[in-house]
Amino acid sequence: MSYGLLKGKKGIIFGALDEQSIAWKVALKAHEEGARFTLTNAPVAMRMGKIKELGQACDAPIIGADATSVEDLEKLFRESMDALGGKLDFVLHSIGMSPNVRKDRHYTDLNYDWYLKTLDISALSFHKVLQTALKLDAMNDWGSVVALSYIAAQRTFPSYNDMAEAKATLESIGRSFGYHFGKRNKVRINTISQSPTVTTAGSGIEGFDVFFHFADKMSPLGNAPADDCAGLCMFLFSDLSRSVTMQNLYNDGGFSSVGVSEEIMEMLGETMKAKAGLQP
Ligand SMILES: NC(=O)c1ccc[n+]([C@@H]2O[C@H](COP(=O)([O-])OP(=O)(O)OC[C@H]3O[C@@H](n4cnc5c(N)ncnc54)[C@H](O)[C@@H]3O)[C@@H](O)[C@H]2O)c1
Repeated sequence: MSYGLLKGKKGIIFGALDEQSIAWKVALKAHEEGARFTLTNAPVAMRMGKIKELGQACDAPIIGADATSVEDLEKLFRESMDALGGKLDFVLHSIGMSPNVRKDRHYTDLNYDWYLKTLDISALSFHKVLQTALKLDAMNDWGSVVALSYIAAQRTFPSYNDMAEAKATLESIGRSFGYHFGKRNKVRINTISQSPTVTTAGSGIEGFDVFFHFADKMSPLGNAPADDCAGLCMFLFSDLSRSVTMQNLYNDGGFSSVGVSEEIMEMLGETMKAKAGLQP
């Protein structure tokens, strides 16, 4: 169902690779809600992904940009404003990649060049996006910027590896830049801490299946699907959230507030009984 929440609003959506991408769902919903926007991804991902299909479905121009390159970002913001006919109202940062995770390097044996790449792609790129938008005066007053995060920013999930530091930095950039952009243009900056979600980036984490099910059993509402994350983005991009800024909002079915659930207790109980030979 559409509420026309983004009627007349213009934006940029980073990170739609394929139908599973969270950014893909955000783009479809933003289109439904009446927004006009450009889609962007790293040139190499655009060659492999299906972003053209999405561009057609949303009537959205596609502009390639490596989010670690300030030059690419400046071009992206300028061309987006030209294509959409003015300043922007919203931006989604939906970008994450760790070479250490991809190449199975253990957290206690990190390759430091790759570690820097993780931080640059997954966290500093957010600062670069915001700084570019501010310097080019690309955002309308009361605009809204959202980046996607994960609870490993606050708590340890061993296999999340160096992405944990990237997410902690990303959330901190949201707060720090939120102050300055708020003062300057009333632009709001928030991060959404999303449940484990089956996507290319998500499934790349070692043991993803197990912690997907663990989180699902821990959360009273179950894991939040990507569609619900898109719904929260619509709220944050809309005028309904005008006074919400510098926040990290959990879209996680309640996971972050639960110590342990009955389902997890039962599963552990069964395992312990089986180990003690009380059950076949
Ligand atoms: N999937 C999950 O379980 C989960 C949970 C919480 C948060 N997130 C976060 O959601 C965001 C989106 O990830 P996703 O799960 O939709 O996976 P995805 O793989 O579909 O999206 C990640 C995107 O980052 C893009 N990207 C990588 N390097 C880039 C660069 N240099 N410049 C521009 N773009 C680049 C990729 O091309 C891809 O489109 C990420 O920040 C991820 O960490 C994911």
